[in-house]
Amino acid sequence: MRKIVIAIDGYASTGKSSIAKLLSSHLNYIYVNSGSMYRAITFHAISKELIPLTKKNINTLISLLSDIQLDYRINNSTGFYDIYLNNTNLESKLKSLEVSNHVSSIAEIPQIRKHVVKIQKSFQHKGGLVMDGRDIGSVVFPNADLKLFLTASDDVRAKRRYDELINEGYEINYEDIFNNIISRDKKDSKRKDSPLIIPKDAVVIDNSKMNIIDQLNFIIKLIKTKFNF
Ligand code: C5P
Repeated sequence: MRKIVIAIDGYASTGKSSIAKLLSSHLNYIYVNSGSMYRAITFHAISKELIPLTKKNINTLISLLSDIQLDYRINNSTGFYDIYLNNTNLESKLKSLEVSNHVSSIAEIPQIRKHVVKIQKSFQHKGGLVMDGRDIGSVVFPNADLKLFLTASDDVRAKRRYDELINEGYEINYEDIFNNIISRDKKDSKRKDSPLIIPKDAVVIDNSKMNIIDQLNFIIKLIKTKFNF
């Protein structure tokens, strides 16, 4: 059976990574979370005290890019890829509100996008790939076999992210989460380089009232119809 490339883009906290993980397990495909690369660089910038992102700090961060080695390695206990920055596993450190509050400013820097997109593109040859993000169907894999675009109401998205973080032990309040997802969407949609757009050939899924199994069934049906699987 032919292995396809599936691009999943969408607004913040629309459950892209949850459905991408489930779908990739179902198909026995590789799953790559592209946002984790922007988050890892943001984490690094915070550790190097390059926030606030003044012109000088942006230039320093760009000059550090050649020393920042980003890669994904399989985690045998989860079966998914974890992100490593200079050989350190950062997977559990990237969801904090501090990282979320700065990541979209880092992600709009063209030199950073270029660096990251090159690594993301290198996954294509592996075949059988699900990648989620903001520019996967438009820039990283414009020829992806299937493009999905996820959306949901603002309240549903904020509530999902809030519950997820509370469950993981973060001390956060709902309003901060709500404001963060709205401001990231705005910044991600308005930036000059690779803005968040709905690719022309994407199937839009509003999952406000769908659970994850509804979404999986919908996508599997789509794949069966489109590719005769
Ligand atoms: O997917 P996630 O919410 O973790 O992404 C965090 C941020 O990284 C996004 O809000 C966006 O600014 C940036 N991003 C991006 N392009 C991608 C994936 C993420 O600009 N492909």
